[in-house]
Amino acid sequence: MSPNSQFRRDLFPTPVFVGTSNDAETRASIEALSYAYLKKSYEENRPEGLVSEGWTDHEITDDPEQKKKKGITSFFNENLIHNPDWSDAYDFVLNMAGTMLSEHHSVQGMKIANMWTTIYPEDGFVPEHIHACFSVSGVFYVKAPKNCGDIVFRDPSWVAKTMNVWGSNKTFPHDGTTFSFTPEPGLMILFPSWLPHCTRPNVSGDDRIIISFNLDFGEVNFNAQLHDGVDITKQNPNKKGKE
Ligand SMILES: [Fe+2]
Repeated sequence: MSPNSQFRRDLFPTPVFVGTSNDAETRASIEALSYAYLKKSYEENRPEGLVSEGWTDHEITDDPEQKKKKGITSFFNENLIHNPDWSDAYDFVLNMAGTMLSEHHSVQGMKIANMWTTIYPEDGFVPEHIHACFSVSGVFYVKAPKNCGDIVFRDPSWVAKTMNVWGSNKTFPHDGTTFSFTPEPGLMILFPSWLPHCTRPNVSGDDRIIISFNLDFGEVNFNAQLHDGVDITKQNPNKKGKE
């Protein structure tokens, strides 16, 4: 947004697509699938990638207490696009993303390269990150109670833009270099994969559940393979997985 000025123009906005689905039935079935994943993780003592503080340390553990405290992501164990139980969820996410993007882009041949679920318990969050090697990424809010934690996007040029003030002691652009969205059930946000983002802690008193995904426009098959079914015991030789 440009300030009210005769001379100044603020350049280079970033396209982010935001939409909401009111399909409560699909959300309920994806929530059930996510909890089934979590239940199996506990039952099988499966090593799982953690979020919250565990994300920064690339912590993968079968410790149920750590899973419960920090929250888990299926990202490291399974690409859900290949799980038949998740095929309806795949179709739903692809259709919704396609509808939102098709307003401005050709989505012919678009697929989901990889998809994962993350369950954030009370105080759970994800530190700032990007989705390396992809073009467009997305998040769909399956379960998003009030105060479950905003998602915050940050302009990666924030260092350059904020090292000097640009009039009236304000940094450039005048309305800041971060932008937050408050989750609600059914919200989908599509964003450039290079755009850094994090979430605030979930203080709702209940879980926040999301599906995250990277889109494949046909040019990222190598990357799809790279992120497809990562063996976490090989990825993390110092973290002892279950034998
Ligand atoms: Fe993300």
